[in-house]
Amino acid sequence: MSDELRDQLARAATATEAAIDRLLTATPQAGETERPPRLLSAMRYAALGPGKRIRPFLVIETANLFGATSAAVITTAAALECVHAYSLVHDDLPAMDDDDLRRGRPTVHKAYDEATAILAGDGLLTLAFDALAALDAPADTRVALIGGLARAAGIGGMVGGQALDLDTDAPAEAQAIRTMQAMKTGALIRYAVEAGAILGAASQADRARLAMFGARIGEAFQIADDLIDATGTVETAGKRTAKDAALGKRTVVALVGIDAARERLAFLVRQARDTLAPFGDRAAPLAAMATFIATREA
Ligand code: IPE
Ligand code: IPE
Ligand code: MG
Ligand code: MG
Ligand code: MG
Repeated sequence: MSDELRDQLARAATATEAAIDRLLTATPQAGETERPPRLLSAMRYAALGPGKRIRPFLVIETANLFGATSAAVITTAAALECVHAYSLVHDDLPAMDDDDLRRGRPTVHKAYDEATAILAGDGLLTLAFDALAALDAPADTRVALIGGLARAAGIGGMVGGQALDLDTDAPAEAQAIRTMQAMKTGALIRYAVEAGAILGAASQADRARLAMFGARIGEAFQIADDLIDATGTVETAGKRTAKDAALGKRTVVALVGIDAARERLAFLVRQARDTLAPFGDRAAPLAAMATFIATREA
């Protein structure tokens, strides 16, 4: 990663974490009764742990393309990161991938307990919509952001993709795997870019272009994740590796092998970066992130 991208990512992460910290205050908000300390602690553990904050970066840098830098941009980035953190907590549960390590630390159900992990996930998901509803932005912007996140996170997006992922008996066909990965991982990544475009009041043409960019890096993101599982180490990845094959997961790596998966990944990154060409140098941070997504080791 270039020093420039590292700095940009660190800035996005710092701003996002401060916003998540505020959302996860111990003080009950209007309409709330109390915030149970153990649940709050688990939610903070999940959402403020050492993640890369790639989705917040994508929200912030896409909004930035259109000159949007308001607090609403940061809050939207934080809301999306809460949904992502929830998806990881539930993904790690014994009933799903049954993982004990995440971001180099015990998973939430190991550090707390299973019921608390389930509720922490529920709480983070709900909190994201709370944050978007309360955004300092015009009502139509808020509705677009809320509706978009619901579609990306729900039955036809991340949750639906997770359901398909668990169906390891389904045929391991290329198109089925692409669909599953576009849903379980691609949908939230594509939403990150779309949310940035909404906040930046981008034209329909730019929104369509950015949605295409989001879809391509979303597909690349999961292939890179599958390669990390197949070839990475637990120390570098911060999570268990060599699990997908053991669990019989349907992945691009399982279907075509490591070398062809790497080729597909490189192709997707080229395509993604090409999509940004009309934005010129202004899109350099997004282009650099596309490359990082494919070449990262964690
Ligand atoms: C991992 O996401 C889970 C997938 C969607 C493949 P990240 O690699 O973005 O995880 P963190 O947030 O940096 O821990
Ligand atoms: C997870 O995919 C996608 C989510 C929606 C969380 P994986 O199960 O491959 O993610 P990791 O490898 O556990 O991070
Ligand atoms: Mg999984
Ligand atoms: Mg998993
Ligand atoms: Mg994985």
